[in-house]
Amino acid sequence: MSRRLDQLLANLGYCSRREARDWIDAGRIEVGGQIADDPGQKSHPAAVRVDGEPLDHPEGLLLMMNKPLGRVCSHDAGEGPSVYELLPERWRRRNPVVTTIGRLDKETSGLLLLTDQSALVHRLTSPKHKVPKIYRATLDADIPTDAKEIFARGTLMLKGETEPCAPAELQGLGLREAELTLTEGRYHQVRRMFSALGCEVVTLHRVRFGHLELGELAPGKWRELPLNEFG
Ligand code: URA
Repeated sequence: MSRRLDQLLANLGYCSRREARDWIDAGRIEVGGQIADDPGQKSHPAAVRVDGEPLDHPEGLLLMMNKPLGRVCSHDAGEGPSVYELLPERWRRRNPVVTTIGRLDKETSGLLLLTDQSALVHRLTSPKHKVPKIYRATLDADIPTDAKEIFARGTLMLKGETEPCAPAELQGLGLREAELTLTEGRYHQVRRMFSALGCEVVTLHRVRFGHLELGELAPGKWRELPLNEFG
């Protein structure tokens, strides 16, 4: 879809609309092989070059990150170091903004998706779509023997909520370690579910989101995914 050149550059995080005029005046922008001279020129993203380079992901971004401990999934600078600070500056200036698809707590690590596609955020976070997410937890006490059955039943009521948790699958990995598969994403859900059974989560790591796994991605690193990764 064609857009004003200055708006296109600003929305992709290159510069402000005001600065776009300067970039154009400096001859840095080409459209269809011609040096551009009008910030208002309607331009198709595929035809634009900045300093001879094609535009940076004009169709949108979908990323997988291995979230490290100690970072928040918030754009509010007051909440501490964020996962967004691990991304290139230009992506952090994009509009629509790049956001996380659901959140992981500051002290949770693992697979985190980020995108600027709001429809994808909605689709992958809506409990209606039942996208499975797998968390590996270590606990401060032995997991009760009936935990698997309690989580699977879909009747567990968390404090302050009016709807029980959807059925969740628990796979024990040891007396104090397990993987839990959720199809919804309530606030601190894994911690609160275990807490309801009398165990506190000591470490929490998301190992899977839908069909995706982290593979060799190191903590703090991200990689791009195709926009149609989820069909
Ligand atoms: N459940 C939690 O308690 N924390 C997370 O970060 C994700 C799921």
